[in-house]
Amino acid sequence: MSSRSGHNGCSTLQSKGAPDEDALPETAKRRSGKAEEPYPKPAERDSALDITASSISPEVANSKNQKMYPPSGECLTSTEEVKTSGAGTPPHLLVVDDEQYICEVIKEMLTAERYQIQTSSDPEKALELIKAQPVDLVLTDLIMGRVSGVDIINQTMRFHTDAIVILMTGQPTIENAVTVLKSGAYDYLVKPFSMDTLRAVIKRGLEKQRLYRENIHLKEAVSLYKISEAMGSTIRLDFLLNLILETAIKELDADMASFLLVDEQSSKVIPKASLGVPEELRGSGILTGQDDISKWVIKYGRPRVIDKEESRDQIGRHSLKKCIRSAIVHPLMAKGKVIGILVLIRSQEQVSPFTPGQLQSLSIIASKAASAIENSMLYEELKESYLQTLTALANAVEARDIYTRGHTERVCMMAQSLATEMGWEEEKLWEVKMGGILHDIGKLGVPDAILNKSETLTFEEFEAMKQHPICGSKILEGIPFLAPAVPYVLYHHERFDGKGYPYGLRKDQIPLQGRLMAVVDTFDAMTSDRPYRKAKTFKQALDEIRDCADTQFDPEMAELFLKTWENGKIDKKRLKLMKEAPAAI
Ligand SMILES: [Fe+2]
Repeated sequence: MSSRSGHNGCSTLQSKGAPDEDALPETAKRRSGKAEEPYPKPAERDSALDITASSISPEVANSKNQKMYPPSGECLTSTEEVKTSGAGTPPHLLVVDDEQYICEVIKEMLTAERYQIQTSSDPEKALELIKAQPVDLVLTDLIMGRVSGVDIINQTMRFHTDAIVILMTGQPTIENAVTVLKSGAYDYLVKPFSMDTLRAVIKRGLEKQRLYRENIHLKEAVSLYKISEAMGSTIRLDFLLNLILETAIKELDADMASFLLVDEQSSKVIPKASLGVPEELRGSGILTGQDDISKWVIKYGRPRVIDKEESRDQIGRHSLKKCIRSAIVHPLMAKGKVIGILVLIRSQEQVSPFTPGQLQSLSIIASKAASAIENSMLYEELKESYLQTLTALANAVEARDIYTRGHTERVCMMAQSLATEMGWEEEKLWEVKMGGILHDIGKLGVPDAILNKSETLTFEEFEAMKQHPICGSKILEGIPFLAPAVPYVLYHHERFDGKGYPYGLRKDQIPLQGRLMAVVDTFDAMTSDRPYRKAKTFKQALDEIRDCADTQFDPEMAELFLKTWENGKIDKKRLKLMKEAPAAI
């Protein structure tokens, strides 16, 4: 027997050393038309079948003092491998040869191995079998008329990417060997080959497959662990959805993904995030949850794998159908309810369809994602409820100060516009919003007589008023959730030249949040009526901001405010409306 060079190496180009009775001696002769004797009928088979029988029934073989193929110990090892090689079921073997007799002999040879063996002497039917059912290993003849062994390899690789294919041929040429190995065949057997050779090649192939699958499972386990960790590290829904889409695309080798949320109130499906979806496909049925498949998944809470044909039938006439090679629509379940669906699409012609195994991986991702999303949504609800409480508090302040109604809302709007211009991210924008709402919360500690006094404040009264930033920060300091708002509250009356209060900080000593709030707070104060003066116009207030850059205001912040105003990034129309009809208290 010639040497092998590891997997995918060429096996025996000429079997040798095997006893005559341990081989398929007639095959090559018959294929080449040189068979001197007709093939025996099964009942009349010669010694070759005696050997096969001995491997099937060791006891019988022992009783006849014949050589056992394999010895009983080897047989048990093989069975154990079978048990651990996949999902606990024996490997599915398919033998394809246009000569029925070859199929039968190989099946008999392998019966003792406890494989699930299926044979087909019709290669066209074999193609259908490969498409329709699980296949772990295929033994196929090379030349079979219209359908060749290479066609069998291609079909197997298409539907079972980790399947092992072993070619058998009676015409061993270098070209054939190269062709089949390039097509993805694991090995190449030359007829006649011995039973030992066949068993050894199959065993080696299945062992390689087992290791490959174990490796995949290990990678999946590591990957899922990382996903769980990543999902646990963020509570932000937008980050989370993006992470889920990225993970699903990467793990399932998809081209595009979309996440849709089911609105609990209206039961409508709302697209929340997508990745890899071309502009022209946004709004397409399956990506918007408006198709029958998505509706089915939401209704029954079960995933669906869609192939190209089904997508054509069920997705309708939309252009997206042209792009779907395979798709998975998977529900995201939380507390027994479908809270959303995850759509994954493979669009390239050359990629394989999604497999049930990949659906299983996605189910694990979807399960992790659903609980992370639910946590995130609860967090968002909590935030919203905090915001409502804070707004009620701010309204309580404004209710006491008849001259500053609507001030909080306007300051919030302008501060967020400036922060957006600075490129602050959503979490920081949320903090700006909190800061804007709460910046004057300390006025709760200022007596009404001072707060609503229409005359100029006395020195003592002004000193009391100057305490409101400190009073505000003390109100917030015991609430960790509100801690990011403290710099806005505490420093919004500090001046860049150090003449502000409560601490007289200057320049960079003043946190950026305070410098930001100072500009928008003053602008709104200047453009609002006071009992002792009329409101300035927007233009007059803008000039004042410009004039006071570097004294009262951080010059960069003043410049940013003026630029944001000029660019129309501060909604002047809305601001005007807010001034004319301040928020109801
Ligand atoms: Fe203030």
